[in-house]
Amino acid sequence: MQEVAVITGAASGIGRGLAERFAAEGMKIVLADVEEALLAELEADLKAKGATVLAVRTDVSNAAEVENLVVRTLDTFGAVHILCNNAGVVCSRPIWEHTLADWEWVLGVNLWGVIHGIRAFVPRMLAQGDACHIVNTASILGLVGGSGEGIYKVSKHGVVALSETLADELAQKEANIQVHVLCPGWVRTGILESSRNRPDTLQNPAEKTRPQKPVIGGSRNTRAEMEAGMSPAEVAEHVYNAIQNGTFYIHTHPEHKAWVRERMERILG
Ligand SMILES: NC(=O)c1ccc[n+]([C@@H]2O[C@H](COP(=O)([O-])OP(=O)(O)OC[C@H]3O[C@@H](n4cnc5c(N)ncnc54)[C@H](O)[C@@H]3O)[C@@H](O)[C@H]2O)c1
Repeated sequence: MQEVAVITGAASGIGRGLAERFAAEGMKIVLADVEEALLAELEADLKAKGATVLAVRTDVSNAAEVENLVVRTLDTFGAVHILCNNAGVVCSRPIWEHTLADWEWVLGVNLWGVIHGIRAFVPRMLAQGDACHIVNTASILGLVGGSGEGIYKVSKHGVVALSETLADELAQKEANIQVHVLCPGWVRTGILESSRNRPDTLQNPAEKTRPQKPVIGGSRNTRAEMEAGMSPAEVAEHVYNAIQNGTFYIHTHPEHKAWVRERMERILG
């Protein structure tokens, strides 16, 4: 049986890496994203390499659009085996300065996007009964605390908690669905240009006079760190191996495990 993989945030960065990796395995690929030009470009690219591809313009923060994604997937390919809830955005300033629009935008994509994916796809996967995998993209920032990226961290801690709960509940049910949570450090992607996809309805009126400057940890050179980061292809290889091996926490940067350990020690006192 040829597997069907659905990837959100597929048009760029890690999502694109996953699409290319799964296509190389001969899987049928469903690409979901709001960035239509890049989506069409990737669709054409993968098709030129012989892949079977469906591109569905999907805003993951919208439940009806995610429902449309699962319906289009099943209508076209008859099944779904891998769901990568990967779309994500970032927006940074001191946490008390964030506007309601900032909270709604980032939580809408990063957390509600995953919630909508789970609600739409899991019942179909359960009914289908085939072996399935759900890969939720969190971040190393979903496992640590500290200053910087407040809303992003709230969203990614939520994705980790959601994934842990989902994995345990599916295991208790003896469902044929494995869950994985991807927790990367820096990856060379378009994430620092996230505002390119911010909807008009969630823009801050004052944005022009107070542009966003993503800063992680408050002082380091974010862009330089990202540009020195891992390639999306390497992240995709980690994900592919985790699916093969049944790994739940996908650590692409094992050196950051020390941060998790430090946090746990602070919690335990
Ligand atoms: N780049 C990193 O260093 C890094 C580290 C840890 C985790 N992550 C996570 O990886 C995931 C992918 O991000 P990336 O780094 O590849 O960035 P990216 O900007 O290159 O890709 C994100 C994709 O999500 C899409 N997207 C944005 N809003 C959307 C929406 N409402 N609906 C559907 N698609 C939407 C964008 O169009 C884009 O194609 C995100 O969840 C991000 O938080 C990234």
